[in-house]
Amino acid sequence: MKQKDLLEKNKITMWSEEKVSDFRATLLQWYDENKRDLPWRRTSDPYCIWVSEIMLQQTQVDTVIPYYERFIETLPTIEALANASEATLLKLWEGLGYYSRVRNMKVAANQIMEEHQGKFPEEHKDVLTLKGIGPYTAGAVTSIAFGQPQPAVDGNVMRVLSRLFEIDLDISKASTRKVFEEMIRCLIDPNRPGDFNQALMDLGATICTPKNYSPEKSPVKDFNASYLNETWENYPVKKKKTKVTEQTYYTVMVKNDLGEYLYKKRPNKGVLAGMYTPLMIDREDLNEEGWKSFSQDDVCDSRVSQELELIISKSYDLKVKLNDQPKGILSHVFSHLKWELIVFEAELLEEDTRSSQLKWIHADRFDEEMFPVPTQKVNDLIDTLTLF
Ligand code: ADE
Repeated sequence: MKQKDLLEKNKITMWSEEKVSDFRATLLQWYDENKRDLPWRRTSDPYCIWVSEIMLQQTQVDTVIPYYERFIETLPTIEALANASEATLLKLWEGLGYYSRVRNMKVAANQIMEEHQGKFPEEHKDVLTLKGIGPYTAGAVTSIAFGQPQPAVDGNVMRVLSRLFEIDLDISKASTRKVFEEMIRCLIDPNRPGDFNQALMDLGATICTPKNYSPEKSPVKDFNASYLNETWENYPVKKKKTKVTEQTYYTVMVKNDLGEYLYKKRPNKGVLAGMYTPLMIDREDLNEEGWKSFSQDDVCDSRVSQELELIISKSYDLKVKLNDQPKGILSHVFSHLKWELIVFEAELLEEDTRSSQLKWIHADRFDEEMFPVPTQKVNDLIDTLTLF
């Protein structure tokens, strides 16, 4: 979608050219007078800027400085990074967290050695092909090191723009970043794109903060719609993710010698009220002998199937023989609930009394039943796997 269309679709009105020009000048003047003196701001080496940006994605500026200096001293070039040992990388990254980030950097350094003769690529699209580099990092490096007018939109920048323009888009949604990128393409100063991006980052980190925000202290308060309209408390819009509760059930498909499977009616209240599922045993109910310490990898422990046989015998008066190994693991997501179903097949050995909540249904009649989706998934799993 074209820049103008994307903004229009989201009901964002961009400022006039004159106002954009004024904004650039005001923001950059503030940056020139207040910018933090940071080691990666004393270089235009794309390698150094790349290292700093990856480190800054997970940690505050003050913490990053000594890590950055040690990293660049130990591995001063892309070639040095490409040849670095795992132990060196681990030592340099220890305490920063997300070790995979530095591992990706080494992979990217090798890509640069092989595909770009050891020289950091200048083309934005080439930078994006490097391992571990997404739109934010690509935009930051190309704007700061090469002076290209590319957006570098992170959470700070989205917060700043949300407040400036009273943007009602949810910043926790991945699709929102593209809209902010288009806004930056309109706003960015073509003569100083790297400084412009970093000025917004500094503004977000020091004045336009998530908490204790005082908009009257901002150098760009006259441009700030949410300040002028006194709506700044509403921005940015960040919808809280609804908490999903996870429940794990051992799900047992009992089969009799007529080829019928056993289903149980669920209670008349709650999830899937009154509908039929295979026998489901809450994993939490298998904790008597320290089962809790068992993780997903332990589902194949034969003690699990023995325990389930015992529970089924006690709860339903049925003697069944379970396979030692589960047939598979399925998941089903309701709005606030996620079921994980560890599916076992079992053979009926003896049925004493029949509970009214239970019924047997032949696989040939599955289509006629109004099974809920999780039950259909279990049926399909059993069906698929017994075909082979
Ligand atoms: N956070 C991420 N990148 C930054 C940069 N270049 N300057 C300051 N803070 C940042």
